[in-house]
Amino acid sequence: MKKVFLTRTLHDFALNELKKKYQIEVHSGKIPISQTKLRSKIKDVDGIICFPYDKINKETIELAKNLKVISTYSVGFDHIDVNYAKERKIRVGYTPEVLTDATADLAFSLLLDLLRRVSEGDRIIRNGKWKVIYGAHDYVGVDLQGKTLGILGLGRIGKTLAKRAKAFEMNIIYHNRKPLSKSKENALGVKFASFEKIITQSDIISIHVPHTKETDQLFDMKVFNKMKKSAFLINTARGKIVNEKELVKALKKKIISGAGLDVFEQEPIGVKNPLTRLENVVLAPHIGSSTKETRAKMAEITVKNLNLGMNGKKPIYSVGY
Ligand code: DGY
Repeated sequence: MKKVFLTRTLHDFALNELKKKYQIEVHSGKIPISQTKLRSKIKDVDGIICFPYDKINKETIELAKNLKVISTYSVGFDHIDVNYAKERKIRVGYTPEVLTDATADLAFSLLLDLLRRVSEGDRIIRNGKWKVIYGAHDYVGVDLQGKTLGILGLGRIGKTLAKRAKAFEMNIIYHNRKPLSKSKENALGVKFASFEKIITQSDIISIHVPHTKETDQLFDMKVFNKMKKSAFLINTARGKIVNEKELVKALKKKIISGAGLDVFEQEPIGVKNPLTRLENVVLAPHIGSSTKETRAKMAEITVKNLNLGMNGKKPIYSVGY
């Protein structure tokens, strides 16, 4: 029987389907799995099911001599050395599309929460600090209507976020490597802008690009200094696109107004992370795709991608080879 290793558990229906076809082993310890453990487990496997932050790098793949497919339970695949997998003719499957709505919804929730200070208000009440009732200047947030949302990366999730923002009467500018056609821009109600314009003119910037060499630490103090003092930053893409230390400085010194973060340089973050002590920040534990429905669809696609790769076929959603 072919062997499959899972770096975390999945839904029962997915595990049961896998068990019918393969000998499976599911990692149950510390998450993400350590490199040492991962490397000791994959030497003779035919397939791997992995998750964001499991480093499936060249050195690890090299050890897996029988490996035919890597199926990640995520849209992001920056944790996998796709180029090396391609060289070895190892299929790589991922799960876009099914998580588009959920992730755009989460980005929009962070935006709404930040601008209307919902989580901050919740903390005020729970900590017994709600003293002023209906004060003219207390707990005031800012309107969304008429504000400029700068979307960095107008792919599936970026476009879906644009639709949400349009319904709230926001102005939307975006930056992509390639602008959309004018008719597509008009249909979505968005306008192309340079990266410089995105960072200097947006009231809210939402990041929707993958983490690559080009986007690594893209948002640093130089960028924060160019942003409006009243601007907010939303990141549901990958933590390493933002220089977290410099973000903390920018938030503390009020160089920018706030941040909504679902992703971090290292995950999970704990209470010692300085972000947890800032009031102008909304934090989420990497839950962009985390709805019952979406997670089940992702499990289904992950298994389908794996099955196809195990049979030498291209996964439904495939990168590289
Ligand atoms: C992914 O799937 O890569 C995202 O991080 C979802 O939240």
